[in-house]
Amino acid sequence: MHEITRRLVEFWRLTRGVEGTVPLHAPLFQGNESAYVQDCIATGWVSSVGAYVDRFEAMLAGITGAGFAVATVNGTAALEMCLRLAGVGPGDEVVVPSLTFVATANAVGHCGASCRFVDVAEDTLGLDPARLDDHLARHGGRPIKAVVVMHTFGHPADLDALAEICARHGVTLIEDAAESLGSLYKGRHTGNHGLLAALSFNGNKIVTTGGGGAILTSDAELARRAKHLTTTAKVPHPYRFDHDEVGWNYRLPNLNAALGCAQLEALDEYVGRKRRLTEGYADLFAGLDGARLFRETPESRSNYWLNALLLDRPDAALVGRVIEQAAAAAIQCRPVWTPMHRLPMYRDCPRDDLPVTEAIADRLINLPSSPVEWQGTAGREGGG
Ligand SMILES: Cc1ncc(COP(=O)(O)O)c(C=O)c1O
Repeated sequence: MHEITRRLVEFWRLTRGVEGTVPLHAPLFQGNESAYVQDCIATGWVSSVGAYVDRFEAMLAGITGAGFAVATVNGTAALEMCLRLAGVGPGDEVVVPSLTFVATANAVGHCGASCRFVDVAEDTLGLDPARLDDHLARHGGRPIKAVVVMHTFGHPADLDALAEICARHGVTLIEDAAESLGSLYKGRHTGNHGLLAALSFNGNKIVTTGGGGAILTSDAELARRAKHLTTTAKVPHPYRFDHDEVGWNYRLPNLNAALGCAQLEALDEYVGRKRRLTEGYADLFAGLDGARLFRETPESRSNYWLNALLLDRPDAALVGRVIEQAAAAAIQCRPVWTPMHRLPMYRDCPRDDLPVTEAIADRLINLPSSPVEWQGTAGREGGG
């Protein structure tokens, strides 16, 4: 067994006494989830309008400091809407990192636009400001409509630098903050640094609505439009069904929002638990030869959504071996996503050199990161 796997097994089985499967990321429901969902069922308010949707949006606006939050059916729909609201349409080009979950690129495609891939920085795993600046300066073709930054595994990208570069080049900045609810950049919540941002509440995120997402913005008119477009562009009226343009049925149902309200009540606690787990991993891997735990930058406070171990050198075979050995011990690890420029549908998109992305793809192992409080008591594990 490789030393990395040996330490992981020791950590989960001996130090923490966990007996069952250790999931990569399991949701945790231990507050008002049942009560709020039951309330929807009892009152019949289960669908796309209801008090929990309003409450969920108000809670999100408060937590993130964004002026407005508009809840959607998932994070991909939220990101697509952010792009559409920024004016991205057929034939446009949008800069995105290649190191991301496929939804970032898909949202661009759903608008009829196409991606340009730029490399990430080694210290944040988010878009590299210097490379973005260079890319925008050198680009001589059709104007680039937007830049989407993604906060990888919850770690904020270098937002001040990226925002300044986008402003200087006259390009709209959008944040894919799907993974970074609870993460701060220079004391300010992610999702506040561009025109619009998208959140996800998929079952594997720090808090979940089952499936869900949200659009964040500080612009009241954009928020009004986001709500209108995601509600089939229905003109508000007590009984008439008038729609003034082609809209989308992207609103989050009340049932999901109810779950989300209860989950948001626990967000601070979950961030604390995740950060304590990261400290545990830091101790575990201290002094390990050939690999290190990925840590937040000094200006960030990460939610550590998914912990990541980075090999010093690319070694796809070793990444695979550790993941398989851990799986044999019922400990779920995983490699980073296949970079977008290697996927068949995005292979032909224009791209910069991507040396960091290429290397990270064969260096990174995600570690179990559920927000369960692992006390070292036997048998407590996250399920899933
Ligand atoms: C970076 C990133 N972007 C977008 C999404 C899309 O969110 P959803 O799964 O809610 O559509 C996710 C997560 O699933 C994600 O991790």
